[in-house]
Amino acid sequence: EQIMKGSYSSFLQKEIFEQPESVVNTMRGRVNFDTKEVVLGGLKEHIREIRRCRRLLFIAAGTSYHSAIATRQLLEELTELPVMVELSSDFMDRKMPVFRDDVVFFLSQSGETADTLQALRYCKQRGSLIVGITNEVGSSISRESVCGVHLNAGPEMGVASTKTYTSHIIALVMFSLVMCDDRLSMRQRRNEIIEGLRVLPDQIRTVLALDEKISCIAEKLHTKKSVLVMARGYNYATCLEGALKIKELTNIHSEGILGGELKHGPLALIDQAMPVLMVCMRDKVFPKSINALEQVKARKGEPILLCTKGDTETQALVNSYIEVPQTIDCLQNLLTVIPLQLLSLHMARLRNLDTDRPRHLLKTYTS
Ligand code: G6P
Repeated sequence: EQIMKGSYSSFLQKEIFEQPESVVNTMRGRVNFDTKEVVLGGLKEHIREIRRCRRLLFIAAGTSYHSAIATRQLLEELTELPVMVELSSDFMDRKMPVFRDDVVFFLSQSGETADTLQALRYCKQRGSLIVGITNEVGSSISRESVCGVHLNAGPEMGVASTKTYTSHIIALVMFSLVMCDDRLSMRQRRNEIIEGLRVLPDQIRTVLALDEKISCIAEKLHTKKSVLVMARGYNYATCLEGALKIKELTNIHSEGILGGELKHGPLALIDQAMPVLMVCMRDKVFPKSINALEQVKARKGEPILLCTKGDTETQALVNSYIEVPQTIDCLQNLLTVIPLQLLSLHMARLRNLDTDRPRHLLKTYTS
């Protein structure tokens, strides 16, 4: 096992640090940065059919579900189709109506999650087009899908998903780019996103280099009872995924809160003692994020910020912050999630917990 971990002390740490390479592996042979062409071989035959569909559905559990939340806004923008994102278990509880002209994506690292597989079979029976996105070639979801995308992120051993989260996002970004490659009006937006993907691995390296600073923040948080994580817009998925990582790895209660919902309840939790991590990047929702920050400060909260690198004005508002390099809006969540992965890892270590096998949890639920 130690041979597989190489110089890392856990699979989790190795997988977090592998992300500059795993995102490249997901894009390899698919994104041509010179010609700005994106080709998904596993979907090629079906793209015309997908463009004509009634709506796109994304069904998944856990971290894979968050990757669909992370890309929903971009999918809506670039496909101009109605997009629905559903949790596999809830989808099956509701037995939602699906139709022959729906295209349904099943996102799963393992390709074996029972709830997701059941949802796939349910949609197949109703004649929808089934698309699988998994990290496991030959898994049940891959085999039972009509077409799909393999993440090629390499094996993920840690129970908590990390590199397959970022790869799932990349896969869905590539799908969005393919869907609009015939649209002249979207050419510039498309090119900007492709340029963002080109520099992404280096930007991930910059974030990973914050490891030591993040371990100092973990020192302050690892004894707390609860940690709130807040964000909105493209980073909403980051707060959900960050809170999930904290729960899974540290056994500390954590909640991801959409900034817009702060006043509808969560504000009551805020005081000096409640740790709050807030994503406050220089994007379209920045003024709203600053407003939430002020709301928290007015209740004597002392937020720890994830903010844009070099944004000294925002940094001056708080005592503690983590600087994340800026990228194009729809790719920003690929960078903001990494400090939260690292933070969870350090907090778990400080609590002497097994970071690869968190208590009570399994990597894959096949029944
Ligand atoms: C389990 C794992 C999670 C994972 C979820 C969905 O709960 O512990 O890390 O996100 O299953 O798994 P899947 O393989 O379908 O992505």
